[in-house]
Amino acid sequence: MANDTLTITDNRTGKQIEVPITHGSIPTSALRQFTVDENDPGLLTYDPALTNTASCKSKITYIDGDRGILRYRGYDIETLAEKSNFLETAYLIVKGELPDEERLKAWNHNITMHTMVHESINKFMDGFRYDAHPMGILMGTIAALSTFYPDAKDVQDLQSRRLQTRRLIGKMPTLAAFAYRHLRGLPLVYPRNELSYTGNFLRMLFKMASDYTPNPVIERALDILFILHADHEQNCSTNAVRAVGSSMVDPYSAVAAGIGALYGPRHGGANEAVVRMLEKIGSVDNIPKAIESFKSGEERLMGFGHRIYKSYDPRGKIIKKLAYEVFEVTGKNPLIDIALELERIALQDDYFLKRKLYPNVDFYTGIIYQAIGFPETMFPVLFAIPRTAGWLAQWAESIRDPEQRITRPRQLYLGEAPREYVALTKRPEPLEREDQVAEDI
Ligand code: SDX
Repeated sequence: MANDTLTITDNRTGKQIEVPITHGSIPTSALRQFTVDENDPGLLTYDPALTNTASCKSKITYIDGDRGILRYRGYDIETLAEKSNFLETAYLIVKGELPDEERLKAWNHNITMHTMVHESINKFMDGFRYDAHPMGILMGTIAALSTFYPDAKDVQDLQSRRLQTRRLIGKMPTLAAFAYRHLRGLPLVYPRNELSYTGNFLRMLFKMASDYTPNPVIERALDILFILHADHEQNCSTNAVRAVGSSMVDPYSAVAAGIGALYGPRHGGANEAVVRMLEKIGSVDNIPKAIESFKSGEERLMGFGHRIYKSYDPRGKIIKKLAYEVFEVTGKNPLIDIALELERIALQDDYFLKRKLYPNVDFYTGIIYQAIGFPETMFPVLFAIPRTAGWLAQWAESIRDPEQRITRPRQLYLGEAPREYVALTKRPEPLEREDQVAEDI
């Protein structure tokens, strides 16, 4: 059997090295052996956006982008969506195994006991403008939580990591609901611990003058959506949590960084952008024109495409089916007709097929959230709540990993050669440069 090594020759010097291939990868630090003289620090690899670089070893989530497979700790997402619930799935992702009855009961209790937030949080919630984007509110309040729990800085202590994990998973729905109530100018509704995770969240969001009992269909649909969004290996926001966490800062600060990354329209903010796109298209008759704008690069077909999935995102299939279960209760969201027709036409168009652009997790979620009654700005918040379990599992795995150190990538310096300082009175007209800062400083 051929040995698992790679032989690399530097044709500048004829030097040859043999590097081990493990888990389908090579240690790129070996390339530093290739130098041309004693001043040469050795070769780097250049991989903008880390498209072909493994930044860590992980046992949490497995994705096969070509076959459309997604597994948490070895369990298919389809099975978990059908048979599990979010808190059980969060336990699986964080702890690595499905819990037995006793452990699940303890886990549910431990999360539920951390749904309340310090009253001071409510005071600075009022500091946000009436129309502040709830993702900005969430990012700010989660970062601020780090000031309430100075013990969270002890990231090397297992019990502290476990306590912050329970606190963050427990408090996310409360802070998200508080942000929504702030936007609506409504009084805050406090958690009720006898309700389920999603039932409690729905009540904190939608309780008005009389009490509120969550509709079981909506409660279960949200629970399934939370399962589907719980983790997704080294996506942009998880990478942010790991990188920020690698400085040994507390997990609240690291999760706040993850929320910031998820906020962007190319990541979790896409679900909000999809509904705005569908509303702008307005009717199936306008789809051909919209398709042209996507193909020309003038606009992006939001909710389509993925760095890893080069086939249908398995989560998208489940969500598309779930939409109709929700519509049984809420009434059909007419945007679904535009979305289905847009998908049908795009998946017949060579531009999308050639680039392997298929609907991703964000294509249908916003249509469901809107039907339930969420405003568009809340859609990425509904992504951040369940992803907190994944972020914390990934963060803890990184802290425990003896091979991990502070994240500090290298660069290829293409800037100026050394030059002398010129006195102000003697300086020539500055050169026009492509990276020129704005003239009106
Ligand atoms: C999530 O990473 C994760 O796992 C993320 C996520 C998770 O669970 O954490 O799955 C959640 O963020 C899903 C993705 C949500 N984002 C969107 O729906 C936004 C629209 N999609 C794109 O912006 C894009 O597809 C990305 C950001 C998702 C992926 O970007 P890549 O891998 O960097 O691909 P690319 O931008 O280099 O595009 C490759 C080509 C380009 O065309 P050419 O230069 O070859 O001519 O495909 C084109 C792009 O222009 N393209 C699109 C497109 N996505 C890519 N063209 C039109 N519409 C699109 N949506």
